[in-house]
Amino acid sequence: MSDALTLEEQEGLAHRNATRIERCNLRNFALEKAAQIEFRGVTKLYGPIAAVDNPSLTVHRGEFLTILGPSGSGKTTTLMLLAGFVAPNTGDILIGGKSVAAVPSYRRDQGIVFQSYALFPHLSVRRNLEFPLEMRGIKFTERAKRVERILKRVRLNDLGDRMPSQLSGGQQQRVALARALIADPPILLLDEPLGALDRNLREQMQVELKGLHKEFGITTVCVTHDQDEALTLSDRIIVMREGRIEEADAPEVLYDRPATRFVAKFLGEANIIEDSGFKIHSDTTQPSGTLPMLRPERICIAAPAAPKRADADQRQYVTGTVADMIYAGPLRKYHVHVGSSLFVVREHVASGQQIFRSGDEVRLEWLRSDVRFVAT
Ligand SMILES: Nc1ncnc2c1ncn2[C@@H]1O[C@H](COP(=O)(O)OP(=O)(O)O)[C@@H](O)[C@H]1O
Ligand SMILES: [Mg+2]
Repeated sequence: MSDALTLEEQEGLAHRNATRIERCNLRNFALEKAAQIEFRGVTKLYGPIAAVDNPSLTVHRGEFLTILGPSGSGKTTTLMLLAGFVAPNTGDILIGGKSVAAVPSYRRDQGIVFQSYALFPHLSVRRNLEFPLEMRGIKFTERAKRVERILKRVRLNDLGDRMPSQLSGGQQQRVALARALIADPPILLLDEPLGALDRNLREQMQVELKGLHKEFGITTVCVTHDQDEALTLSDRIIVMREGRIEEADAPEVLYDRPATRFVAKFLGEANIIEDSGFKIHSDTTQPSGTLPMLRPERICIAAPAAPKRADADQRQYVTGTVADMIYAGPLRKYHVHVGSSLFVVREHVASGQQIFRSGDEVRLEWLRSDVRFVAT
């Protein structure tokens, strides 16, 4: 009909007619729709311990969210609540805007990968992959098609007939991922998915996982205690502490500008400077209740009499004594006594560099703009 308004036109009209408050509500509604997963007042008690203590958790559609935190901070419990394996004492969990409180885990549309892979040992790779499709009543020919497609995607084409025990750790992990993804669930839950792999394989799988996430656009919640993994994989990281969320942000923001001492220390190494006997200069004023923080790679180490750089007026210089030097392949790590503080300095190995040893006098320098402040 020519006189009927299109949906967009109707929306535009409604928006123009709306008051400011209504507009605000409209925006909130839009945000709510965008939130794929939401925790509302969720608490999980184990005796007197609140394993999960009302974190304000929202996961956006298509996001790769990592839950990071020390052992016992409530990461796994959060994921188990989300998966429906554990019921909350209080509060509600919403997926796609609907409460899932009454939905048992096997009826939830989600793929899960555990640290231990949890493949069925008595079923071949192909049969393992078919299982979630069978559960959903998908017909044999369609199942076979999907299995071949995903086998190819995770580069296991030739291994479909093997048993899990005949696969390496990395291959088993690929099968576990493929099995979680095969039914095209809107949500993927990962608990320390790469924890059992050695370093090289883990890095390879991180790339693989990132690629799969991009390709499938699947909302992913990943639990890990591995900070490198969190920084590499995530759109956003949540740092948990005693069942609560300490801070949540994009990896680069969280690493470069952590709000609290806990986050600074947990996500990488941090020089947090208190009572050092000298003042740290910064371009910004220090908020009360905070301490200055410098990342080790922002500090340069040099001989005390080395010529200063052209931008010397933007830097702070201090002298100290090397406590020790640790060689770690691509970098050297120094511990340096400055006043009553022990600084950690990280330097990328390059040719022509002067190497310092325990007891050497050195000069440390950093840009004043690299100083951060963290709440104590
Ligand atoms: N089934 C359980 N029974 C009793 N206490 C538990 C149970 N599961 C977890 N907890 C406790 O809840 C807290 C959070 O545990 P968890 O979620 O496993 O932490 P994370 O995964 O971060 O290591 C810990 O103090 C842990 O001891
Ligand atoms: Mg855990």
